[in-house]
Amino acid sequence: MTLRAPGHSFGGEWRGGAPAPPLDSGTVHLWAADFGAHAWPIERLRGVLSGEERERAARFLASAPADRYVVARGLLRHLLARYVATAPDELEIGQGPFGKPVLRSRSAGIRFNLSHSEGLFVCAIARDVEVGVDLERVDSGSDVIETAPVILSASERCWFDRLAPADRVLALYRVWTRKEAFLKAAGVGLTIAPDTFSVVSALGSDLPTVALDGRAWALHSFEPAEHHAGAIACAGPVRVAVARTLTPERIE
Ligand SMILES: CC(C)(COP(=O)(O)OP(=O)(O)OC[C@H]1O[C@@H](n2cnc3c(N)ncnc32)[C@H](O)[C@@H]1OP(=O)(O)O)[C@@H](O)C(=O)NCCC(=O)NCCS
Repeated sequence: MTLRAPGHSFGGEWRGGAPAPPLDSGTVHLWAADFGAHAWPIERLRGVLSGEERERAARFLASAPADRYVVARGLLRHLLARYVATAPDELEIGQGPFGKPVLRSRSAGIRFNLSHSEGLFVCAIARDVEVGVDLERVDSGSDVIETAPVILSASERCWFDRLAPADRVLALYRVWTRKEAFLKAAGVGLTIAPDTFSVVSALGSDLPTVALDGRAWALHSFEPAEHHAGAIACAGPVRVAVARTLTPERIE
């Protein structure tokens, strides 16, 4: 998987068992995994989940989404454990008021967010600042265009309506992922309607920030892989550093 994002790659290779690369409060680390590209050690990953997470995995009706959930949660725990220097199964992951996952204890200031879309998983990790990430598979055959009125603000609509029809699906995913990353960073769920704020100007350029309650949330779009759109939002200016893609060998 090729992960393209603004910012820089880590200098060294991260391996399970080693401490995470140093993370300061002006940087977001972006990790990714390709569910379909590897034989993941599902039972080993299930072994680090909490009882509640295992129960949730058991409630999926089909095995493929259940396995994806186990791999995503297991990878998340392995990753976070390296940042806070503890064992993956000792992390206490709770939820904010609208369901945003948070580290409950021994967090060392680590904030995180994750997103998965079919075969891909991404996780953004920050220190002392809230972060949100969204990933979507671009489905050009879908009826996504019909969601434009509820997603786009009036000024975004000026830009969008002038686009050639062939460019509209990708444009909408770009807006959608930026808005969802912001809503996930702020942890507010759908209490803020997506059509009430803008992430793209009336001329179509990316707006670098969204304001909420006097705070500017920085936005960065990235391309997780072909036919996918992604975005990160953070409560302040940050650079995005792309970590190497996770593989089973890195989970030890
Ligand atoms: C909960 C929500 C964030 C999930 O979004 P999604 O696109 O279906 O799924 P993603 O893969 O991107 O994200 C799911 C992960 O986000 C995290 N999450 C759940 N609720 C969250 C919240 N309120 N804030 C931040 N993150 C949240 C969880 O880790 C979840 O993964 P898990 O269930 O495996 O633990 C979404 O339903 C929501 O409320 N979105 C609000 C944003 C919005 O308005 N979207 C419309 C288009 S702009």
